[in-house]
Amino acid sequence: MQDEDGYVTLNIKTEKPALTSGDPAASSLWRVMALTLLVLCVGMVLGLVALGFVSVTQQNYLQAEKEHLSGTLKQLARKVCQDLIKQSGQKESHQCSPCDTKWRYHGDSCYGFFRHNLTWEESKKYCTDMSATLLKVTSQNILQYLSSRTGLIRWVGLSRQNSTAAWMWEDGSVPSKDMIKFSGNGTENMNCAYFHNGKIHPTFCENKHHLMCERKAGMPKVDQLL
Ligand SMILES: *[C@@H]1O[C@H](CO)[C@@H](O)[C@H](O)[C@H]1NC(C)=O
Ligand SMILES: *[C@@H]1O[C@H](CO)[C@@H](O)[C@H](O)[C@H]1NC(C)=O
Ligand SMILES: *[C@@H]1O[C@H](CO)[C@@H](O)[C@H](O)[C@H]1NC(C)=O
Repeated sequence: MQDEDGYVTLNIKTEKPALTSGDPAASSLWRVMALTLLVLCVGMVLGLVALGFVSVTQQNYLQAEKEHLSGTLKQLARKVCQDLIKQSGQKESHQCSPCDTKWRYHGDSCYGFFRHNLTWEESKKYCTDMSATLLKVTSQNILQYLSSRTGLIRWVGLSRQNSTAAWMWEDGSVPSKDMIKFSGNGTENMNCAYFHNGKIHPTFCENKHHLMCERKAGMPKVDQLL
């Protein structure tokens, strides 16, 4: 009995400080509240992560939309400007042209046509000195455009090291087969190419011909379109 009593007292004494919160009902209430808070916190963290994710995707989407829109606008401005240039006749380009005076605006490029008798190398230098290059002709569209602009023989930026080497544009790319068909015969030592009558032909680099140069066009002057 003594022992039991002593045990009981001891037990009560040690439990006493915890009694207020150690009440089984109160403690389970705390537990529930803590659990609820934990769940809320986790929920909020997940929510924030999801929100961040949504906001990032949203931003990416908006960015892509913006780029798409400005691309479309640029194309539209280019088309309208080039139509205006066509209408304004051959003599003088419309004010909207992003090209220098006397340079022609077509596609994404400005084209300069020059009547100097120069070798291929001299022509290449002539263009370089004007921050331009000899032409890289990559589509039937450009061939047609050139035919509409000039009936003269003019150098283009296509050459090869020697009769056995591959033909290359100035940027090192190889012309596509359907664009340029040179018959293998009779072109020995003809390592430079010119444009004439809608086609590209090989000839001797030391020959003297007229030339044309190409420059990347900037944005058309949109304020001149209004
Ligand atoms: C280029 O050569 C042609 C024929 O040889 C000649 O008639 C013409 O005057 C020359 N042009 C220039 C700018 O030297
Ligand atoms: C032709 O040019 C290629 C590439 O530049 C070179 O490897 C080859 O030796 C040249 N051949 C001749 C006959 O000069
Ligand atoms: C090139 O010329 C030779 C002789 O003139 C001829 O036998 C050969 O068939 C020709 N090759 C091509 C691809 O025209």
